[in-house]
Amino acid sequence: MGAVPPDLLSPERHGGNLEAVARRLGCRPADLLDASASLVPFGPPASVRRVLQAVLSTPPGRPSPLRDYPDREQLRLRRAIAAHHQLDPAAVLPGNGAAELFTWLARDAAAAGPSLLPTPGFADYPRALACWGGAWSAWPLALPQPGTVAWPQPLPPPPAGADSALWITNPHNPTGQLWSRASLEPLLERFALVIVDEAFLPLVPAGESQSLLPLVASHSHLVVIRSLTKLLAIAGLRLGYAVADPARLRRWAAWRDPWPVNGLAAAVGEVLVGDRRWQERVQRWVAAEGPWLQQRLRQLPGLTPLPSAANFLLLRSDHSLVDLREQLECRHRVLLRDCRSFEGLGERWLRVALQDRRNNRRLLRALRQEISR
Ligand SMILES: Cc1ncc(COP(=O)(O)O)c(C=O)c1O
Repeated sequence: MGAVPPDLLSPERHGGNLEAVARRLGCRPADLLDASASLVPFGPPASVRRVLQAVLSTPPGRPSPLRDYPDREQLRLRRAIAAHHQLDPAAVLPGNGAAELFTWLARDAAAAGPSLLPTPGFADYPRALACWGGAWSAWPLALPQPGTVAWPQPLPPPPAGADSALWITNPHNPTGQLWSRASLEPLLERFALVIVDEAFLPLVPAGESQSLLPLVASHSHLVVIRSLTKLLAIAGLRLGYAVADPARLRRWAAWRDPWPVNGLAAAVGEVLVGDRRWQERVQRWVAAEGPWLQQRLRQLPGLTPLPSAANFLLLRSDHSLVDLREQLECRHRVLLRDCRSFEGLGERWLRVALQDRRNNRRLLRALRQEISR
């Protein structure tokens, strides 16, 4: 078994480290504008608070999702997710965020053979594979070129090799590239296990039409992962789900701890997973703020924003952006995602999460001031 390399656990491998940064800067987390993690900035929806308040106001001694052990079968939550996507509830497994599900998925991937991971890519896949000593190789992706790109784009064909499991992120993280379903479908013929992480897909305008969810029922070697932590801005509460062959999910359920999804997250998920009005609102925000921010970032000297279909985008420069990122943090309390931990990127890259208009302006002001120093 391979040990987890220590740097896989370092906070720099993920954005959103508000507590740690506030401690370092000697300020409050509320003083920070966090554009390093890509959560919906105007969430969570009011209905999340309503569900939580209803749970918290249950009198002591009465059954409630706070007091009692969660349902081991997670039946109500699985039914709600299944109804939203028109699936069989047996094909749905909720998790403590998508990240928990990657751990079990990686056990299957490691058993299937070597994994192929598009790079630069999300650091949690190697973390999960390392749990099981799973071998993987990097597949360097061409980055989207500045200028107008119409989404979705076809995913280029993977390199020929002996890899058994393929991990796709759609839209891709950190680029925000949206891959077309038509280009992903043929990959099901080539790999023993195909994983499609659709954590950000519900946020992408018209993104759902590229989902591979409709193919799961006919392909037992396809696993689709979803997350509600970004869409609903409940990264602290944590909720995600896998959609896959029921036999595979029963196996995972036997491996994990008995109550991986807490009662409050389940109660919120049951009510919110089918909230199409929220999803439409989020997509309208991405459709409006994405191009607006891109256009203004293009006007800043020395920074090139790459096209993105998602609620985050990559910034490229010809020189190191390490100092700029640190100055934004120290002088303006604005956090951008350091990209040095992404294989194939480095000091000349930053990732920016879309904000609401007011905070996008704050972000631009801070960038303008630091660039003109
Ligand atoms: C592509 C991708 N998938 C999954 C996750 C993890 O989601 P969750 O918070 O549900 O564990 C992230 C978090 O940043 C991500 O970027």
